[in-house]
Amino acid sequence: MGKVIVTASGKGGVGKSVFTVNLGAVLAERGVRVVMIDMNLGLRNLDIYLGLENKVIFDVADVLGGLCGYKRAMLRDRRFPCLHMLPATQNRSKFVFGEDDVSELYAQLGENYDYILVDGPAGVGRDMTLAASGGEVAVIITTPEYVSLRDADMADRVLSDAGMTRRACVLNKVNKDLMRTGAFPGLEDVSTRIRSPLIGIIQYDDNINISANCGVPIVHQKGSYIEENFNNIADRIIGL
Ligand SMILES: Nc1ncnc2c1ncn2[C@@H]1O[C@H](COP(=O)(O)OP(=O)(O)OP(=O)(O)O)[C@@H](O)[C@H]1O
Ligand SMILES: [Mg+2]
Repeated sequence: MGKVIVTASGKGGVGKSVFTVNLGAVLAERGVRVVMIDMNLGLRNLDIYLGLENKVIFDVADVLGGLCGYKRAMLRDRRFPCLHMLPATQNRSKFVFGEDDVSELYAQLGENYDYILVDGPAGVGRDMTLAASGGEVAVIITTPEYVSLRDADMADRVLSDAGMTRRACVLNKVNKDLMRTGAFPGLEDVSTRIRSPLIGIIQYDDNINISANCGVPIVHQKGSYIEENFNNIADRIIGL
C-alpha cells in the first residue's frame, strides 16, 4: 500500500511544487513507483515543472468527477517510466467531488504506487484540507521569513486538527548570508515557531529556479549538493 505524502505551507510561493517534483524524481531514481498529484485546483503548476504542459488532456477533476479513470489522465515523466503525474484542473466549475472521493482516489493509487505525492495549495482553507484528505504524512514547506513561519504554523495546526499526526517541516530558500544579518529568523527560531520537526533545509539557489522554469527537476544534475540534500530529506520523510 503506497504512502500518501502531502505538501502544505500556508503562505504561497514558498516552493511546495518544486519540492514535490524533486522529491518525486529522487524517489523514482531509486526505482520505486511514484505518482505526483497536483491538487492546486484551478492553478495547475506541476506539469510545467516537469516539462509536460503540452501533454495534458484529462485532469484530476475529471477523475474525481467520474469522467474518466485515473489511468486516462496520468502523464508519464520523460526520464523515469515509474514516475507519473496527475495534473490539476484549470476549471474550478468542475468541482463536484468531496473529501471521500479524494481519499478514495489516493487509496486506489496506493494499490499501484509506492508513493503518492500530493502537491497541495497554499492557504489553510477547504482546498488544503481537501488535498490532505486521506494523507498520511504532511510536509510543511516554509521560507525563513516571519510571515511564512506564522502561516506554516497555522497550516501545521489545521492539519493536526484534521487528524494528521505525522508532520514535518522543510525550510526552503535559505540564504545563509541574509540569515547571519539577524533580520531573518535563525534555525532555532524556526524550530520554536513550528511544532513539527524540521527535517530539511534547502538553500536559495538560482539554479533551482532556472531548472524549474525549464521543466527539469534540479536533482537530475548529478553529483550536486542539491541532489544529495534531496536524497537525505527523502530518507527522513520515508522514515516518518
Ligand atoms: N530553493 C529555491 N531557490 C530558488 N528558487 C526557488 C527555490 N524553491 C522554489 N523556488 C522558486 O520559487 C518560485 C515558487 O516555487 P513553487 O511554485 O514551487 O512554490 P509553491 O509553494 O508551490 O507556490 P504556490 O503556493 O503558488 O503553489 C518558483 O519560481 C521556483 O522556481
Ligand atoms: Mg505550488
